[in-house]
Amino acid sequence: MKDITQVAPPSEAILQPNTKAFARDPHSVYAQLRALETPYLLADFDGYVFSRFDDVRALALCPDMVRGAQAFMSEEDLASEQRTKGWHDMPAHERFVQTNLLESDGADHRRLRATVFKAFTRQYVERHREMVQAYADQMVEAALEKGEIDFVADIALHMPGHIIGTILGVPAQDCPQLRIWSDDVVQFFGLERTEDDKKRAERATSEFHLYLIELIKARRRTPKNDLLSILIAAQDAGDLSETELIATAMLILMAGHGSTIDVMGSGCHALLRHPDQMRSLRDNAELMPNAVQEMFRFDTPLPFFHRYAAHDCKVAGYHIPQGTKVGLLYAAANRDPSVYKSPDTFEIARAPNHHLAFGMGAHLCLGNNLSRLDMEILFNTLLVRTKAIALRSDEVHYKTGISVRGPIALPVTLTPV
Ligand code: HEM
Repeated sequence: MKDITQVAPPSEAILQPNTKAFARDPHSVYAQLRALETPYLLADFDGYVFSRFDDVRALALCPDMVRGAQAFMSEEDLASEQRTKGWHDMPAHERFVQTNLLESDGADHRRLRATVFKAFTRQYVERHREMVQAYADQMVEAALEKGEIDFVADIALHMPGHIIGTILGVPAQDCPQLRIWSDDVVQFFGLERTEDDKKRAERATSEFHLYLIELIKARRRTPKNDLLSILIAAQDAGDLSETELIATAMLILMAGHGSTIDVMGSGCHALLRHPDQMRSLRDNAELMPNAVQEMFRFDTPLPFFHRYAAHDCKVAGYHIPQGTKVGLLYAAANRDPSVYKSPDTFEIARAPNHHLAFGMGAHLCLGNNLSRLDMEILFNTLLVRTKAIALRSDEVHYKTGISVRGPIALPVTLTPV
C-alpha cells in the first residue's frame, strides 16, 4: 500500500478554485482530478484532495478520519495551528462556531448528535409541510405578480431561512437578519478568506449569540412547540451545556441557509438548461423527489469538506499517517463515471441516485430531509403555477471558491397558468 506522504505536488495547478474559469466549469476540473493516479496535493489547503466516489465514500465512513484536530494535537499545538489559520482572537467564533456538533468527534459528537437527531426526525420535519407549502405559495404568488424576477434574490434567498427559522422558533420578522449573520459567518470558512471576513464573522457570531440568549430566555418563560424549546428541555435534562445549546441552535440556523439557497438556484438553472427534463417533470409530478435528488448530485451545493487522520490508518488505497489532512470532494464524487451512467447528463428520473451531497457516515447531514422537502415543495408549486419559465440571460455566473456552489443571480420570466 502506498504512503500518502510520497504523493508528489502536482506538476501543473489543476485545481484553482478562486478563478472565474473554475466557477464557470468546475466539472471539467473535477474530471481531471478523478483521472489522476493519486490524490491531488492542494497547497492552499495543506492536504490531499480525493475526488473518486469510492475513495471519498471510504474516507467519510472511516472512523479514524475526524473533523477536529483536537483528536491528536496537544493544546499548545492546537493553539499554534489556530494562529496559523487565523482562527484566533475571535472569542465568540471560537466558542460557538469552531466548536459545535459538526466540528466535534467521538463521544461528544455522539452525545450532541443523538440529542439533536432525536428531536429532528423525518416525522418532525414532515409535520412542517403545510407551513413550507404556505410560504412557497406566498413567494411564488409574489414572483408571478412581478413576472420578471431574479429567482435567487426573489425566491431562493428567502425560503430556507424562513423555514428553518420558523422550525427553530425564530419570529418571522427576524429571519432575514439570521441570513445576514449566517452569510458573514460562513464566508470566513472559504479558503479565500480575508481579515475583513474575519472581523465580520466575529461580529456576526457575537450578535447572533446575544440574539439567541434573549430568545432562549423568552422560551424558558413560555415554552412553545418549536425546536428551540425541545433543545432547552434537553439542556435542562443535562444532555447539553448552555454553550452547546447556543452553538447547536446557531449551527442549525446557519447550515439551513446558504446551501439550500444555492441548490435551489442551480436546480432551477439545470431545469432551464434542459427543457426536455422540465417538460417531463411538468408531465410527471411524481418524479419530483428523484428530480430533487438529481439536482443535489448534478451541482452539489457544498462541494468540499475536510478530515484529519486521528491515527495512522489505511484507507482509500493509502497509508495515511496521523495528523494528515485530506479533502473530500463530494461534488467530484457525485459525477464519477464509474458509479453514474452519463454523469454529466441531468436526468430527473435517474435511479438509483445515492449521491454524497449530504455527506456520509458520522457527520451525515442533519437537514437532508428538510432541504429536500423545501425543494420538492418549491419546484412543485412553481411548475403547477406557471405555464412557462424562461431564462432571460445567456450567461449565468456562479460563485467562486470550492466551499460553495450556486448561481449569483438567475434572471427568469414566469408565465402564469
Ligand atoms: C442544500 C442543503 C444541505 C446540504 C447540501 C448539506 C450538506 C451537508 C454535508 C455534506 C454535511 C457533512 C459534512 C461533512 O462531511 O463533514 C452536513 C452536515 C450537517 N448539516 Fe447539512 N446540508 C444541507 C442542509 C442542512 C440543513 C437544512 C440543516 C439544518 C436543519 C443542516 C444541518 C447540518 C448539521 C447539523 C450537520 C452536522 C452533522 C454532524 O456533524 O453530525 N444541513 N450537511
